[in-house]
Formats: sequence, C-alpha cells, structure tokens
Amino acid sequence: MSTPLYDALTAYARSNPARFHMPGHKGTPLSAPEFSPLTPLDVTELPPTGNLYEAGAPFDEAQQLWARAFGFDHCQFLTGGSTLGIHTGLALFTSPGDRVAVDRACHRSVYNALALLDLEPVFLERPWLGEENLIGPFSQKDVEKILDVHPDVKTVCITSPTYAGLLSDIPAISGEIHRRGGKLFVDGAHGAHLPCLGVDAFSGADGVVVSAHKTLPALGQGALLFYRGGVEDRVRRWSSVFGTSSPSYPILASLDLCRDWLEGEGKGEYRRVRDRVAGLRERFPSLGGELPLDPTRLTLKVKDGPAFARALEERGIYPEMEDGGHVVLICTGSDSEDSFVRLEPNRRTVVAYAPGQK
Ligand SMILES: Cc1ncc(COP(=O)(O)O)c(C=O)c1O
Repeated sequence: MSTPLYDALTAYARSNPARFHMPGHKGTPLSAPEFSPLTPLDVTELPPTGNLYEAGAPFDEAQQLWARAFGFDHCQFLTGGSTLGIHTGLALFTSPGDRVAVDRACHRSVYNALALLDLEPVFLERPWLGEENLIGPFSQKDVEKILDVHPDVKTVCITSPTYAGLLSDIPAISGEIHRRGGKLFVDGAHGAHLPCLGVDAFSGADGVVVSAHKTLPALGQGALLFYRGGVEDRVRRWSSVFGTSSPSYPILASLDLCRDWLEGEGKGEYRRVRDRVAGLRERFPSLGGELPLDPTRLTLKVKDGPAFARALEERGIYPEMEDGGHVVLICTGSDSEDSFVRLEPNRRTVVAYAPGQK
C-alpha cells in the first residue's frame, strides 16, 4: 500500500498520544457508534500529521502520488469540494478586473468566484445539443470564435465532463488557448475517475479540479486541484483563503486511500462498470451514440424527468438528478452488481418507471 497521509494518521493514533489539541472529541467514541471508528484519525496540524497549507511530509508525497496519476506537476488536496478548487483555480489564473470566458451552464461556484474575484464573464456561445436540451460539448472552434471576438480574454474556464457526461476536446481546446498566450482551467468536478479508464480528459489544461467525492470512493467534500509547476505557494495560499483553517483529516486521508485503491483493484471495478453502463445504454433510451461521453455516466432520456425519478425512488432507486428530459445516474466502481440488476429494464420495470413510455 502507498498511502503516506493515511499511514501518518494511523501511526499517530497508535502512538497513544495525550491529545491536548482539536478536535474536542480527543479521539474517543462519539455518542452515535457509527461515527466512532474515525475519531482516532480525526486530528489537526501536528508535526507527525503535517499541514495541508504548507510544504512538507506527509502531504507532499501524498499529493505528488496523485499528481503523477493524473499527469500533472502538482496536486492540492481540498476539503471544500470542487467549489473550493474553482475559487482557488480562478484566483490563480486571473487578476481583478479580467474578463474570463466561461460556459453558460457552469456551476454556481464559477459565478460566485467571478463575483468574489471581481472578474467579468464572456460567455461561450453554443453548443446546445438542440434536441437534447443540453449544453456541451465544446470544440476548439467554439473557443476560437470567442477568442477572435475578445482577444483580451486570457483565461477560459470550461466544464468537462458535464453533469450529463459530455466531454469537450480539452487537448485541442488547450492548444488553441496556448497559441494565444492564454490559460485553460477545467471544471472536471464529475471526471475524477476518467484517467483510470484511459480517457484523455484533461491533458493540456493548465489547471483542473475534480470532485473525488463525486465519482471515487472518497468522503464527501474530498476534491483535488491539479496544476502545472511554479505556483505551488500561490495555490496553497489561495486554497487557504477560501478553505477552512481546520481541514478534515479523514476527508484528506480518504483521498490517499482511493488513489491507492484505483491503482490496484479499483481500475478493474471501473472497467466492469463501464461495460455495464454500455449495456444499459443499449437497453434504456439514453445519451450515447456518437457523443463524446464519460463511459460510466448513465443519462436516461425520458419524457418527464421528475415523474421518472419519482417512479425510481418508489422502487428504492435514487438517481443523482433529473431535469425535464433526463435522469442522471452516477455509476462508479463502488456500485454493486445488485444495484445494476435493480435497474434492469424488463417489461414490468419499464412500465413502472415511466407509464406510457417505451
Ligand atoms: C459541474 C460542477 N462543478 C462544480 C461543482 C461543485 O462541486 P462540489 O460539490 O465538489 O463542491 C459541481 C457540483 O455539483 C458541479 O456539478
């Protein structure tokens, strides 16, 4: 196992420390037993446990292992989700007053960052997938068009993959932006698992944030910011401006653990799920065909999203989200075969899911 942060925490817990530091539970059981196994690892910044916002052990090694897995120079662990990574990334690549090209369907954390950092948006037009009523994916041409009209724009922020799983051509887009002396920041919140499936989702980007907690076996809020070299101190400083000064060590250690798992048996689990989703896409009306898609995302096409989701929920199946015409199911290497079997579209379940829909 290669889990430097998790190892440091377990070694500290085993050393029988007298904990005159935060958190107040002091590593003892909480009143609900479900929470208790984690408290010995729920610590604060100490010489043996390191400091997320400073260079040094064990974070340097833990973050470096992740950076290598993603093909970037550096990685910053985050305990405030991709939201924190988007604030940090946009602060890193802009100066107050700059204009930034963003897609209209970007997450609210992008809009909040624009307001917080005094940035002005320039919206990437299109691409609406007309009959799908979805935004994305973006091409090099879409970015070229906006930068031709607004040559002063030096930072582009694109969501890829989208909630529905649409993948923009980041390698081509980043090439176009770099030719013009700009930087590309990718909100890849939904794509933390893509490199382990060999999908070239982020190469060429100057910065990428992924929510490990969305598609990997990491605790809620665990996220990763990947970036190129030379700005390490600024990344630590900006993430500490927007993040808590008491980051959760269990969340951070879960990032360490899920990388290690992915490098072992986890990869096979994601391949299993990719193949399972491919089969389900053929049997359910769903996004697929020629579209560049996250191979694990199942976006069902339905007549009435809320009604369809309710029908699923009545069967004890809880999707991630729905809109008028889609129901989005997040599938990961942690989904059991039993969960997939419950989705199977035999005649009875299709009728139960969506009365009148074939
Ligand atoms: C596209 C996108 N970006 C960013 C975020 C924020 O991620 P987090 O919840 O990890 O802060 C989300 C959350 O759903 C999202 O869908």
